[in-house]
Amino acid sequence: MKRRSFIKGMAAAGASALIPAGTVGAVLTACKPSGPAASATSGGFDDIVDRAGTWSIKYGRATDGEIPMWIADMDFKTDPFVSAALRKRLDRDVLGYTSTPDTFFDAIAAWEESVHGYKADREWIGYAPGVITAINQAYLTFTEPGDKIIVQPPVYDHFRLYIERLGRVAVDNPLIFEDGRYRMDLEGLERIIDDKTKALVLCNPHNPCGILWDRETLEALAAICERHGIIVISDEIHGDLALYGRRHTPFCSVSDAAARIGMIFAGPTKAFNLAGLSGTAYCIIPDKDKREKYLATLRNAKLNEPSIMTLEAVIAAYREDRTWLDSLKDYIEGNISRVESFFAENNLGFKPIHPQASFLVWLDCRGLGLPQDKLMDLFLSKAKVIPSDGSSYGPGGEGFVRLNVGCPASILDEALSRIRTTITAASLL
Ligand SMILES: Cc1ncc(COP(=O)(O)O)c(C=O)c1O
Repeated sequence: MKRRSFIKGMAAAGASALIPAGTVGAVLTACKPSGPAASATSGGFDDIVDRAGTWSIKYGRATDGEIPMWIADMDFKTDPFVSAALRKRLDRDVLGYTSTPDTFFDAIAAWEESVHGYKADREWIGYAPGVITAINQAYLTFTEPGDKIIVQPPVYDHFRLYIERLGRVAVDNPLIFEDGRYRMDLEGLERIIDDKTKALVLCNPHNPCGILWDRETLEALAAICERHGIIVISDEIHGDLALYGRRHTPFCSVSDAAARIGMIFAGPTKAFNLAGLSGTAYCIIPDKDKREKYLATLRNAKLNEPSIMTLEAVIAAYREDRTWLDSLKDYIEGNISRVESFFAENNLGFKPIHPQASFLVWLDCRGLGLPQDKLMDLFLSKAKVIPSDGSSYGPGGEGFVRLNVGCPASILDEALSRIRTTITAASLL
C-alpha cells in the first residue's frame, strides 16, 4: 500500500458518513503535537513517515483508507544513530562474507547487564536468526514430532503456528483474567504436564496482554518446569520496551533452576523497529549442554551467520546512550494514556488493559456483546481501523482486539475518533 494512497484513502473515509469531511486531512497534514504525547517530540515521533515503495507489510493491508494498527511494527523511523551506522557501512561498498565480531556479543552482554540487570556470561550468548526462526530451531533441537509444547494463551499466535507446522502438539495453559488483571495459572500448569510434554514457550513480556512477569512468578514457573523435566523457551523480544520506569526480568536470571532449564531469545527488533532486517536477534543459554546442542543445530542449518546490516544495527542500537529509546518510551506511554483517557471519557463498551511493556494495547471489547466476526467487521469495514483479531491469540482472545499504538498521536486520535463515530452510528449501546 502506498502511503500517499493511504492518506487519500483516509480522506475518502473522512468524506463518508462515518467521518466528518475534512477531519482526516486536517489531522494528517497539520500533524501538530497535542495532548500528553506532545511533550516527547524530540524523536520525531509525531512525524508521518512515508512508506510508499517500502514493501511495508503493515500498510500493504490498508488498501481502502484503513488505519493499520495490527502487526507489531511501529510507524516511526528507526533510531537515527542506527541508520547512520548502516549508511556508514554501506559507504564502504564492501558486502563480502563477514565474521561475527566480539563487539556484537559485548554489546549484548553490556545491554543485558545495564538495562535488565542480568549479568550473562559472554559465552552464554549466541547469534539468533530472528526470534521466531530461532525458537523454531529450539523446538527441532529439544523435542520430537508428536511431543507437547505448552503455550499460555491469549498469546502471540506464531508460537502455536510453528509448533503445529513442525508436527509438535500445542497444549494450552490459559492465563487467568480476574478483576481486569492477568496472571499465570501455575496450578493448571502442574495438572496438564504429562510424559509427552517437553517444553513451554514463555512470552516475557507477554504479547498481547502487555505483562512484565515478576520474579516470583518466573521462579515458581522454573521450579515446576524443572521438576517435570521441561525446558522453558523465553521470548523476550519486547523486553527493551518495559514502560513506566519498570524493569524487564530475564527468565534465566531468576534462579539456578531457570538458568539450568531456560533459554532466552531477544533482540532490538521491536524497540528499534528493525523487523525488516529480519535477523537482529540473539540467544542466551546458560546451560552448557543445551547451548552446545542448540548452537550445533543452528550451525548445521547454516543459520549462524548474521548479515552485515544485522551486526551493525545491533551494535549501534545496544550502545550506552539511551536517549532515543527513552524518548520513544515516553511517547508510547503518552499514546497509551491517550487511549485510556479516551475510553474512560467515552463510554463505548471498550476497556483497555493497561500494558506494562511495549506499544500494544489489548482491548477488551466484550462490553459490546458482539461475536468476533461482527466485532472485526465493525473495525475493518465500518471504522476503517485494522486491529489484530483477538481470537487469533487462542483461548481467551475472543471479544478482544490488539491495537498497535506505535504511531503518531495524530493517527491514533483519528483512529479513536473513527471508533467512536462508528459505535455511536451503530447505536450499539
Ligand atoms: C512476542 C513476539 N515474538 C517474536 C516476534 C517476531 O520476532 P522475529 O521477527 O524476530 O521473528 C514478535 C513480533 O511481533 C513478537 O511479538
